Amino acid sequence: MTLDTASKSRSRIPNFFKLSIRDRIDALRAHTELTEDDLLALEHGTHTLRCHVADKMIENVVGVFGLPLGLGLNFLIDGREVIVPLSVEEPSIVAGLSGAARTARLSGGFSTEVSDPILIGQVQVVNLTDVDSARQALLDSEREIVSLANSLHPKMVARGGGAQGIEVFHHRVPEGGQEGAPERDMLVLHLLVDTREAMGANIVNSMCESVASLIERIAGGRVFLRILSNLTDRAIVRAHVRIPVANLTMKGYSGKDVRDGIVLANDLALVDPYRATTHNKGIMNGVDAIAIATGNDFRAIEAAAHAYAARSGRYRALTRWYKEENGHLKGEIEIPVKVGTVGGSLETNPSVRLNHRLLGNPSATQLAGIFGAVGLAQNYAALRSLSTAGIQQNHMTLHARSVASTAKVPEELFDEVVDALIESGEIKVWNAQEIVSRIQKKTNAVQSADTEPRSSASGKVILLGEHAVVYGRSALAAPIPLAVESRVVDAEDGVHLVIPRWGVEQRVPTLDEHPAGAAGILALLLQRLDLTNRSMTIEVFPNVPRAVGLGGSAALAVSVIRALDVHFAIGLNDKRINDFAFDCERAAHGTPSGVDNTVATYSKPILFRGPSQSGKSSFEDLTIAKPLPLVIAMTGNESLTAKTVARVRQAWQCNKALYERVFDQIDELTLAGAEAARDGSLDDLGELMNLCQGFLNALQVSTREIEEIVEVARRHGAVGAKLTGGGGGGSVVALCPDGPEQVVSAVEAMGYEALAFEASGSNVP
Ligand code: MEV
Repeated sequence: MTLDTASKSRSRIPNFFKLSIRDRIDALRAHTELTEDDLLALEHGTHTLRCHVADKMIENVVGVFGLPLGLGLNFLIDGREVIVPLSVEEPSIVAGLSGAARTARLSGGFSTEVSDPILIGQVQVVNLTDVDSARQALLDSEREIVSLANSLHPKMVARGGGAQGIEVFHHRVPEGGQEGAPERDMLVLHLLVDTREAMGANIVNSMCESVASLIERIAGGRVFLRILSNLTDRAIVRAHVRIPVANLTMKGYSGKDVRDGIVLANDLALVDPYRATTHNKGIMNGVDAIAIATGNDFRAIEAAAHAYAARSGRYRALTRWYKEENGHLKGEIEIPVKVGTVGGSLETNPSVRLNHRLLGNPSATQLAGIFGAVGLAQNYAALRSLSTAGIQQNHMTLHARSVASTAKVPEELFDEVVDALIESGEIKVWNAQEIVSRIQKKTNAVQSADTEPRSSASGKVILLGEHAVVYGRSALAAPIPLAVESRVVDAEDGVHLVIPRWGVEQRVPTLDEHPAGAAGILALLLQRLDLTNRSMTIEVFPNVPRAVGLGGSAALAVSVIRALDVHFAIGLNDKRINDFAFDCERAAHGTPSGVDNTVATYSKPILFRGPSQSGKSSFEDLTIAKPLPLVIAMTGNESLTAKTVARVRQAWQCNKALYERVFDQIDELTLAGAEAARDGSLDDLGELMNLCQGFLNALQVSTREIEEIVEVARRHGAVGAKLTGGGGGGSVVALCPDGPEQVVSAVEAMGYEALAFEASGSNVP
């Protein structure tokens, strides 16, 4: 079989580590042969082993066990681009492999030689009267033994595999392994079997069983053990890499230093078993990770590797690194790798099948070559690290980079924050965020005289009625206090927009220049407010993330309009601020319902009525009996409002009567919810939110993460929990009359971010 994905599966995806999981999965579409079903399964987490299947694999099953699945990028192996699936819990391995492969590809990548996939079966023969003639008789009967073994496996023979030959060894062993005890003779016959695409344990074991009585007849003794050998030294992979010194240079080290350091480190592992064990353990970090991801028996591969490392009688490194005459660094690994691409857990575990597709469905021989290249790449990464800054430092840097990435540290502050995280010794997401805000505070202090007060606007959370509101029904929305703050300060030259938290610092062009995004909206606003000829810096401080369905863009618009109003003393009332903000929302999103700008402006709970036939929407203030203790849990995925609204519209167009009835039912829940909020009946409101989530699920705008959070929030005391906003990602809102703590910690324990606040606005009497 050939890997016909050579050109398609481009293994370089720059900045992959900085993407969200969803975006990484998206990127795989262009880089691999994964199907749309595979990508969906990854996105929804349904690619993993199911419990009822696991129950058929081993005994006493109570669940399945998770491990991270990461991708080793940049691999060029025998001229083929390969993305390597890696399942492992230890940080830095995936990054180390990807970095090593990136360096290797600059000089042609890895090349491999793989022997035929031969597995050895052992048949032990005891109680022999004449050992030497028994041995000779067996050797003379090679053809008969091989034919009998193959006669029972015609399919393997048809595929070009099957038993190929035998070897016979004589051992003399003191009984019980005790020195001085009487010695006994035994023969062990090796049946050499080419198992082609299968790992081959079953077939070899059954061949050994089937030739047992023939062997007894020929040798005249008694056959005892019949089992494969895991010392698979007939299935050997050799991988090589050549790296010019110019490609080895790193911060503070010349290429020559790095090359000589790697050679010196390797030399120790060639003579010292203590170092060799750690050295080879590192190699197996990569090899085991791909073995697990591809459903291969990593214990067998481990056992073979270590036994092979001791084949000279002294345990030593599996790799060799040396300086070539031209000064290049040359690395080689020789390692037994007996793997399969069919059979066993490969068929039952859906992740395994997916990972083989991700690799481009290599043959067993090609897969073994990839294992070899991965082992060599891992060893390069470890030795490079150990002989320079040290593994601990590298672990820490990688960990700090990943934490900074999770904390969404803006690009231009990234390196500064990574350094500060390492220096502080507290590599945590909260610390990264604190460092960002410290740096930003410092920058802001320099940037503005700090005399202007900040103008704020609320975000919004929809408690009931999303989607139905698009069809003229009601939505119940509450404010999230201080979601965005802004201020305007004088400047010399033109209009500048600064959003430190998002790393935005740009000049705002005029409308004639047709600016896009936030700058375009600002340009529109400045024109509407007759401020195009003024110079200023608009500073924005968002306290809620972007695009998570919490009304961040409307809050941004309202807070900026207010800041402009304060700075230029325009005298806008709330109605005009709301109208301007609605225009901004229209420019940003096309057809907004108007809920977001209304809540952002008035900062009160409202009962909003979506656009009627004539296109008019309206709202009424909702006076609530007591504040609503809410928790917002963020899935970490952008809310796909435009997509989900379009999906619901398509379904509605196909079956209007049915969907109108669903919207009516949601409307009924929303109106009842408004009553419950007015009366302060939080249990009733919660129940209505739960029912509403059922309808939203029926509209297919919920996701696995949303359902998971909803379930956990309810289990930890929320009386109601549902998605809020467009869905397809975004956030969940939970009503927690008994306090938010339990829900917040349960949600955070699942790895999501949570925000607790009381929604009241000015409408609590
Ligand atoms: C850690 O898991 C692996 C290393 O110890 C390997 C080595 O020392 O070569 C870094």
